Amino acid sequence: MNMFKTLAIATALCAGVAVQARPLADIQKSGTILLGSEGQYAPFNFFKGKQLTGYEIEVAEAVVKKMGLKFEWKTVGFDALLTGLAQDRWDLVIASHAITEDRSRAVTFTLPHYCSGGIIVSMKPEVAKAADLAGKVVAVQTGTTYLEAVKKVPGVKDVKNFPTDEAARNALASSRVDAWVTDRFVAKEMLAKAPKAGFRTGDMLFVEQVAAAVAKGNQGLADAWNKALKEAIADGTVGAISKKYFQEDVTCK
Ligand code: ARG
Repeated sequence: MNMFKTLAIATALCAGVAVQARPLADIQKSGTILLGSEGQYAPFNFFKGKQLTGYEIEVAEAVVKKMGLKFEWKTVGFDALLTGLAQDRWDLVIASHAITEDRSRAVTFTLPHYCSGGIIVSMKPEVAKAADLAGKVVAVQTGTTYLEAVKKVPGVKDVKNFPTDEAARNALASSRVDAWVTDRFVAKEMLAKAPKAGFRTGDMLFVEQVAAAVAKGNQGLADAWNKALKEAIADGTVGAISKKYFQEDVTCK
């Protein structure tokens, strides 16, 4: 194959990827951005009755308002969210995805809206550190960075994965597993809400930056989001939402 033919094919492939996502101009023309989330990950994204709410839901709505757009939420299982971007089912996903190398191959991440990490939660004081997980059964949500992190801990007896983080938590609550690895702020909220449940937090396994994602290469949309997010952080909007949910500022310092 000659060089021009190769180039032509490469260009066609790139164009093919680009037309799958709605560019910013199209979203602006329609006036409404389609946002995807999960709704089962309190206090970041969850349902209060029929109302989708939470830290990142409120942040997204504030950012979108600054972009001059209306929004419509779609909620599906965590697993389907990033692939839905490539299928053009929604324009942007905000569901506590950490920026990882692996995911960055498939989607374009925005700037982070919080910094956090995976933490060990158990009911026993002797299960608190990574080394304590040796010989233990650990619950995590499918498709998460927690699953990847626990897989790397030497000697773990079994990693049980669940479709939602809540289901992983329930497995610990009913002593079907020895530990649960989740987000440190999810754990903090859990402990505050149910102090008598017997949960105790141990060490953090890793830290991560959490961001929204758009279809791979939809840079115009990512740039507009980033500009509005920066404004919302600078004018205190995001800080106020953070204080409301966490009594502290969870944005990346
Ligand atoms: N931060 C973790 C990750 O990046 C967990 C995200 C879980 N999100 C959710 N909506 N359940 O994988």
